[in-house]
Amino acid sequence: MNQPAATDNAIREKLSSYTDPYLSQTLAEAKAVESVTLQNGAVSVGLVLGFPCADYAGELKTALQNHLQPLLGQCRLDLTLRAQITAHAVQRTLKPLGNVKNIVAVASGKGGVGKSTTAANLALAWAAQGAKVGLLDADIYGPSQPLMMGLTGAKPVSEDGKHLTPLRAHGVEVMSIGFMIDQEQPMAWRGPMVTQALTQLLGETNWGELDYLVVDMPPGTGDIQLTLAQRVPVSGAVIVTTPQDIALLDARKGLKMFEKVEVRVLGWWRT
Ligand SMILES: Nc1ncnc2c1ncn2[C@@H]1O[C@H](COP(=O)(O)OP(=O)(O)OP(=O)(O)O)[C@@H](O)[C@H]1O
Ligand SMILES: [Mg+2]
Repeated sequence: MNQPAATDNAIREKLSSYTDPYLSQTLAEAKAVESVTLQNGAVSVGLVLGFPCADYAGELKTALQNHLQPLLGQCRLDLTLRAQITAHAVQRTLKPLGNVKNIVAVASGKGGVGKSTTAANLALAWAAQGAKVGLLDADIYGPSQPLMMGLTGAKPVSEDGKHLTPLRAHGVEVMSIGFMIDQEQPMAWRGPMVTQALTQLLGETNWGELDYLVVDMPPGTGDIQLTLAQRVPVSGAVIVTTPQDIALLDARKGLKMFEKVEVRVLGWWRT
């Protein structure tokens, strides 16, 4: 039978020193190594990662095979990968939302740059990688998610008369003001009404256990956006922009707004 050229301790130590390119940390620093066992000519490794990683196992296994040679000898490497999504910090003044580990706001200073498209795709991509995901359409004046998620005309129900059950599409829990209003009628609401409606949509929806709640923000950097950025306990923001100078100028304003309320900007998406 094949035997590895090293003990399980030596293999564990070498494994722990591997730097994951997505985490920019070693597996030891990420506390990712759960088990290393040598059995029947195979080295079995169990890892836990803090991000959605269903499709990552193949790539990681190849990298680890290279990293662990020649300690493996003629042995096969079996990799079991598990995700336990990390809950990241929110603004110091706010409490995280019940069952929701991370709220991620998708925003921009400018309208029509692809926020809703990016928010929907981010939610779908995380769900495809095995995460539990919700999508909140915070664009009270122009909700897009009912159409984008194929839920036009659908109505959420309330089981207890207080909380709404989100609608489910493509493995994502969706809530939008668009489910409640006639989308053909323009909304003539003032700022405070808008923030109140949003606070209700966020807090009075039965989200269940979620790893990520993606919030599709309305365009602009006015009062509504500022209030939202101050009230919603977000782990981070994604700023969407098109490449034109004017769009970038607006996107920078959006970025500054989040910095002002101590929300980490996770990245830019240039459509
Ligand atoms: N990467 C892309 N390439 C080309 N077209 C895109 C891309 N992303 C979005 N679009 C298109 O651009 C238009 C606006 O997109 P979207 O509704 O996502 O923008 P938005 O920023 O949410 O707009 P609003 O500010 O009105 O909410 C849509 O027609 C969409 O299909
Ligand atoms: Mg939109």
